[in-house]
Amino acid sequence: MECDFSTSTGASSPSSFSLSVTESPQAVNTPDTQRSVLFDEDIAADPLDIGGDASPSFIMVVGGLGYIGSHTVLELMRANYNVLIIDDLSNSYESVLHRIRALATEHFATLSKSVPTLHFQQLDYRSPLMRSILASYSIYSVYSKPSAASTGRFPYSALQRTDSGIDMEPEDTPEPTLRRESRITGVIHFAAYKSVEESIRMPLKYYMNNVCGMVEFLGLLEEFGIKNFVFSSSATVYGEGANCGVPLREELCVHHPETFCDDDGFERQAVPGVMGLTSPYGRSKFMCESILADIARSDPSWSITALRYFNPVGCHESGLLGEDPRQKPSNLIPVIATVLTGTKPVLDIFGTDWNTPDGTAVRDFIHVVDLAQGHIAALAASAAGRIKSSFRTYNLGTGRGHTVREVHQSLQTTSGRTIPVREVGRRAGDVGFCVAEVRRAENELAWRAKKTLKDCSVDVWNFTKGQCPTTGEVPDGMEY
Ligand SMILES: NC(=O)c1ccc[n+]([C@@H]2O[C@H](COP(=O)([O-])OP(=O)(O)OC[C@H]3O[C@@H](n4cnc5c(N)ncnc54)[C@H](O)[C@@H]3O)[C@@H](O)[C@H]2O)c1
Repeated sequence: MECDFSTSTGASSPSSFSLSVTESPQAVNTPDTQRSVLFDEDIAADPLDIGGDASPSFIMVVGGLGYIGSHTVLELMRANYNVLIIDDLSNSYESVLHRIRALATEHFATLSKSVPTLHFQQLDYRSPLMRSILASYSIYSVYSKPSAASTGRFPYSALQRTDSGIDMEPEDTPEPTLRRESRITGVIHFAAYKSVEESIRMPLKYYMNNVCGMVEFLGLLEEFGIKNFVFSSSATVYGEGANCGVPLREELCVHHPETFCDDDGFERQAVPGVMGLTSPYGRSKFMCESILADIARSDPSWSITALRYFNPVGCHESGLLGEDPRQKPSNLIPVIATVLTGTKPVLDIFGTDWNTPDGTAVRDFIHVVDLAQGHIAALAASAAGRIKSSFRTYNLGTGRGHTVREVHQSLQTTSGRTIPVREVGRRAGDVGFCVAEVRRAENELAWRAKKTLKDCSVDVWNFTKGQCPTTGEVPDGMEY
């Protein structure tokens, strides 16, 4: 890998890069070792930025080096947004930053245009240093507040009593006032822990990062006047509502009463709350949505979109970005990938007795690049004032379901390899059918998923094949 970058801080400071990179595809899947960085200095590179039009605006992407975040950062750059990534690398690698930059550079080279700016701070978004970062992305200007005299209004207390006993007007001088404006015009918040199984074992870890972290963060954003917020939510917020066997519409989980028109044309009232959330992870997403809905209700100057992802799969077609977590993968396709690479001997299929065409569970698999573009659509709709209320939820899915067996077969066909499976019982809390109703996102965000399951398989294989044994033979010792 060839990197050519300049850091904006010294060696002992957190990573803070504006970089340009060239990277060969062979570098994929050779993650960096974990960095241990002490955050002992003020990282605000430019705390008082007196700027005008020359000061570019940024979208801040928190958790931007993870699976969905990295694809979204690339799509943001392709759409000409400057991006500031905050990530503590707890479940990602810094090499992803170089790959994003390489892909963006390649894209803009073909257009003969300059590449938008990409900044990175390796930081826990709960760190007190976030305040310094936000300060460094602020513009300060002095403006003259019109005096009471010039506006012709005098509260009694503003009149000055003179020695002569005659009330005189205060001096008619405008009051200079310092105004702070943020160059961060929107935030996309991906940073969260996401393992359902781990959340059951370690609920506090999940509530502290996913819920408490977000609450503190929102307070800080409010202080800096940053009120355009996109939140990574999940279909898990539908709880047992997902068992209804039809595509899930957003009104199945609301946080304040909502009136909507049902498919039969009748007006109905959606009642706040949801039944049957099965894990602390799922509850953390529901709680975050509720908190966001309350904030937006109390202060409608916020624009908050909660995007409920269905099953994100696939990766960038280059094979340079993909799902490469530090933690053990638990989602279907990354698990299949570990079977393909030989790290795991067999794919467990949980439940073959669901009421579905082949007995395995049906999910709405959405290509991660489509999903990433959904975030750009949400920002654009918010900027254009197309979002109906200050808090709005959207399903991001395809509206089509595929069974686990179909996914398995699709990856076998694409890779030309046998992927051993073992049929095991249903997992607690699983549902048989979980597919999105997508009309709201189509109508209001002007967004629709375009890629197919086959596209997902081709891209995943492209990302994975470099690590696979050379033959399709099942390695010795595998049980299935
Ligand atoms: N992948 C899915 O199947 C899925 C489905 C529904 C919702 N989501 C949600 O989407 C978001 C992104 O998911 P993902 O699959 O990209 O996960 P991911 O783990 O790949 O990415 C999350 C990123 O956030 C970072 N992070 C975590 N805590 C942090 C903190 N305190 N400070 C700074 N950085 C932190 C991690 O290092 C990682 O890079 C999460 O909120 C997740 O709950 C994911």
